[in-house]
Amino acid sequence: MTRETWATRIGFILAAVGSAVGLGNIWRFPWVAAENGGSAFLVVYLGIVLLVGVPGLLAEFVIGRRSNRSPAGALRSLSGSNVWGAWGLFYVFTAIALLSFYSVVGGWILRYLVESGLALAGSGPAYFADPGQYFGGVAAGFDAVGYHVLFLALTGIIVFAGVRRGIELGTKVMMPAVLVLLVALAAWAATQSGAAEAYAFYLRFDPSAIRQNFFGVLGPAAGQALFTLSLGAGTMVTYASYVGEDRSLAFDGTTIAVLNTLVGVLAGLVVFPLLFSLGISPGETGTGAGALFVGLAGAFSQLPGGTLIATAFFAVVTLAALSSSISMLEIPVAFLVDEYDLERRTAVAGVGALVVLTGSVCALDQSIFGFVAGTLVDVLLTAGLTAFLVFVGWVMGRDALDEFRSGAGEVATALSTPWLFAAGALLPVFLVFTLLTTFGMDARLGFWPTAATAAALAVVIFAGVRGEPEAA
Ligand code: TRP
Repeated sequence: MTRETWATRIGFILAAVGSAVGLGNIWRFPWVAAENGGSAFLVVYLGIVLLVGVPGLLAEFVIGRRSNRSPAGALRSLSGSNVWGAWGLFYVFTAIALLSFYSVVGGWILRYLVESGLALAGSGPAYFADPGQYFGGVAAGFDAVGYHVLFLALTGIIVFAGVRRGIELGTKVMMPAVLVLLVALAAWAATQSGAAEAYAFYLRFDPSAIRQNFFGVLGPAAGQALFTLSLGAGTMVTYASYVGEDRSLAFDGTTIAVLNTLVGVLAGLVVFPLLFSLGISPGETGTGAGALFVGLAGAFSQLPGGTLIATAFFAVVTLAALSSSISMLEIPVAFLVDEYDLERRTAVAGVGALVVLTGSVCALDQSIFGFVAGTLVDVLLTAGLTAFLVFVGWVMGRDALDEFRSGAGEVATALSTPWLFAAGALLPVFLVFTLLTTFGMDARLGFWPTAATAAALAVVIFAGVRGEPEAA
């Protein structure tokens, strides 16, 4: 059976942007930015996206396009080692963990979209009366399970339809819709009374927040950069494995990162004026789920035409979430199709059934949900990307350079050697460092001991990888 490829040039970019643009942009980004120094944070964040995110993205692209396989098969076939092949199972696990919590949040959003849409004709949706109490009632429990399964079913239908007729066609419709609706919402939000105050809060240039606590900002910025660019789970390996023609991966990767950042900034231009127009202080709603479902839902309830605005807003978030969740499901599905020759529909049904269960656990138990959505995913993504980078630098080496240069323009070609050096040496040290920070090492021992440990650990990993028998 021949493997599918994207039908068009833009199809690959839109699918990858669709994966990147999601809850991370709309729900998390504006708050992380506002809390960490506004537009000063944006500068640091952009730096990290360009210096860590884009090189990481390119590492995943290079592995995927070179091998035409999803992560497990890619690592095995490019290295000739079964150890790497077994490590590939790690990405299947990560994808299932991601999808388990993401689908629950997707379910909440879908519920709000359905409720808002149904209320367009009548009086306001049910959550208008008391947003806080309403959200508390539906966030966990069997209500949450139902909508999780519904959201997962939508995800499954698109993935089932295939790379071209499902993912590519779906994201070609969804991404332009997201952009148009977001711009319209931002324009409308600009006319609200609190807009000026909101921009002052969101975009204020406050370098002192960063100077005081640079390493405190670096961690959140790096975590956000990985999550929002869909790095570390093998999504981008898988999507790049469907790239047939020669094109500049570096150009595509940069385009994707820029579009993704734009959507994050835009989302803040929608969210903050809404809150400020009603005098809701962003601090009051917290940064998590509450901000979206309690703070914003409360704002909609008090605005003239609020039901319509709410419907448009939750439509944006639903589409953004769906175009991301399909990229998570595609990882285990591609694995089963590539490695075990399963029919796509059997693979979708099997993985779907599993995630119905694992997602339901997250929907029923809030502490498990919190653990999966927080620490677990953070650690899995950081470790996952580190392994890809080490693979590119220490196993592929020259092959990675060839693949990077193929189709690349002059600028990208000139940057290819620095890229390989960063990917193989600097970035793994940086990521191991952030992992140690996640476990609280720098808080206990201080910066330099942590940095030294990170460097030492990285060297041990490099040496271990070099010691692996060479590919046949
Ligand atoms: N990037 C998406 C977001 O911002 C989430 C996402 C999709 C993701 N696929 C991923 C995160 C793979 C990590 C890995 O919402």
